[in-house]
Formats: sequence, C-alpha cells, structure tokens
Amino acid sequence: MKTFKGLVKTRQSVRKYNNSKQVESSKLELCLEAARLAPSASNSQPWTFIVVNKPDLKNKIANATFSKTVSFNKFTVDAPILIVVVTEKSALKAQMGNFLKNQQYNLLDIGTAIENFCLQATDLGLGTCMLGWFNEKKIKELLDIPTKKRVNIVISLGYAHENVTLRDKKRKSMQEFVKYNSYK
Ligand SMILES: Cc1cc2nc3c(=O)[nH]c(=O)nc-3n(C[C@H](O)[C@H](O)[C@H](O)COP(=O)(O)O)c2cc1C
Repeated sequence: MKTFKGLVKTRQSVRKYNNSKQVESSKLELCLEAARLAPSASNSQPWTFIVVNKPDLKNKIANATFSKTVSFNKFTVDAPILIVVVTEKSALKAQMGNFLKNQQYNLLDIGTAIENFCLQATDLGLGTCMLGWFNEKKIKELLDIPTKKRVNIVISLGYAHENVTLRDKKRKSMQEFVKYNSYK
C-alpha cells in the first residue's frame, strides 16, 4: 500500500490501456466500495454507478465519448470497463440548500465519490480517467437511463498499457492557489 501522499502523486489520467488484461472483480468492488463511502451533503449519496463491462455494450459507450471531430477520448475503446455515473437528486435538506444558497451540492458530492474511486483504483495498480466529454443522450439511451436524469461523468478503468509512465503534475504553484485569511 502507498502512503496517502504517494497515492495522490501516482494517480493520473490514464489514456492508454492494456486491452487484453481484465480487471479482477474483487478490485472493481474495492473501487466501488471506496466511492460508496464518500461524503455527501446531507448524506444524500446522489449517485448511481453503472458498471459497463460487457464488451459489446462497453464499446458502444466508448464510441459515444468521441467523434470524428472531437477524438481525444478514443482511448476509451481499449479500457475494459467504463463506469457511467448517474447524477441523482440530493436529499430534500440538501436540495433546500441548493435553492437557498444557490449551490449544486450533488455535483460536489459526485466529485468526492469519483476521486475516492480513482484513488482506490490507483492503490490497486489500476488506471482511471474521468471523462466529462461524451454524448450524454446516446449513453442514456444505451443504458436505459431516464431522459430526465443527468450523466455528468464517466470513468474509464483498466490496467495501463506498459508504455504508460508517471508524468509530472502540471499544477498551479502553492503561491498561486492558496491564500491565507483573505482573497487578496
Ligand atoms: C470533470 C473532469 C472532466 C474530465 N474530462 C476529461 C475528458 O473528457 N477526457 C480526458 O481525456 N480527460 C478528462 N479529464 C482529465 C483531466 O484532463 C485531468 O485530470 C487533468 O488534465 C490533470 O491530469 P491528471 O489527471 O493526469 O493529473 C477530466 C477531469 C475532470 C475532473
């Protein structure tokens, strides 16, 4: 097991997968369990994770994440699993908070769950990439998700291709992103 610091540094978006190595179901379950335990506003848990691991269906979902003109998500074709996260409504208390405080807690909540998922995957030697670009309508049709619901994120999961190496993180510096006691 890595240290927490090591885990955070090792997680990176994996965009090249080993398409002949399947993910063990015990590992998948640990990732899902990490997501399940994530915090959420009013403990709403406003998410449903759809695991797409049947190859034909998975390929159809992968094909809905890119097009001829926008092809950067083409790598999903080689990922053995895609997780489609359905954004559910928050609990009533959190919905009131959304309204009264002009917030969108369910999206914040999904962020906590998917990061837990991806960090757990990293700890198990798996690769992930969060995907915000896809044809939502097509994915909903393929998975029988009601049209009223939203899908805001898809996660690819699998073993990274052997060529994938750890990249340096390109991030704002500490000075740029943190302020103490005032925004100025
Ligand atoms: C909400 C969200 C949406 C993203 N959408 C995509 C995407 O559609 N395709 C992709 O290749 N990467 C996507 N990413 C990954 C980011 O590009 C990546 O996290 C960022 O560049 C930092 O790199 P790292 O994850 O390797 O540390 C997304 C990340 C987040 C959090």
